[in-house]
Amino acid sequence: MTAQILDGKSVAAEIRQEVAAAVAKYVADSAAAAPCLTAVLVGEDPASQVYVRNKARACEKAGIDGRTHRLPADAGQAELMRLIAELNADPGVNGILVQLPLPSGGTTKYDEREILDAIDPMKDVDAFSPVNVGLLMQGRPRFLPCTPHGIVQLLGRSGLSVAGKKVCVVGRSDIVGKPMAMMLAQKTGSCGPGVANATVTLAHSRTADLAAVCREADCLIAAVGRPEMITGDMIKPGAIVIDVGINRVGDKLVGDVAFDDAKQVASAITPVPGGVGPLTIAMLLHNTLAAAKLQS
Ligand code: GUN
Repeated sequence: MTAQILDGKSVAAEIRQEVAAAVAKYVADSAAAAPCLTAVLVGEDPASQVYVRNKARACEKAGIDGRTHRLPADAGQAELMRLIAELNADPGVNGILVQLPLPSGGTTKYDEREILDAIDPMKDVDAFSPVNVGLLMQGRPRFLPCTPHGIVQLLGRSGLSVAGKKVCVVGRSDIVGKPMAMMLAQKTGSCGPGVANATVTLAHSRTADLAAVCREADCLIAAVGRPEMITGDMIKPGAIVIDVGINRVGDKLVGDVAFDDAKQVASAITPVPGGVGPLTIAMLLHNTLAAAKLQS
């Protein structure tokens, strides 16, 4: 079997066009200013700089006012908290995103939890705040977290349903693994078409016999951040494989899944790059428009 390749790039382009049209309609209908997303970038991590630049470009193409605040790595917790308070209070800012990870190698330490907790939940387009996580858990999300939401869109728009099926999410991060598991397990379609009612296993680095657990899954979602750790023998023949990993190995980007191996076993698989990655930004644009509408 050779798997269908799930083209995240083209699905993301489709969503970005839809968001651009919806932004234009919102601005015309409500005579409002363009929705505004403000990203905060602390330090000079090269990957984070690329992400933030890509977000700003995507905003511009969608008619969203994308701003970036840059702080030096040693700005410190108090200055970052002050900036968040300022952005919270600014009615011209609809969405706030603090690019993660915050610098950790130098002498200045950041309390990431305190920073994320300080973002106004109505402007929390990442859906990282405890209030938004709680609403998602109860099946009444205000914002859906961008990467899991992107995966849901990719599955739905590719005609793939996981309802009633066994899904294994590998990785228990707050950004992807935990919210992904929660969204797939919801009872109704509150998190998107076709994504509810899965039987979800949330596996992680301490899972006993991870390979056997993965092999049970009709849909395997890898979000561990370890290059090519999911090999073909860990995949049930015919399973859907979603690879969230973006790992730099030498001068190459590879996922958490050994792609060439896995595509012989899976029925559908996302590539890296060009799979899940582009969808995260598309859903961020979607959330920024949603935030502007909520605040108007
Ligand atoms: N760093 C990697 N992914 C993300 C994300 O989705 N949001 C933020 N704020 N930082 C990230």
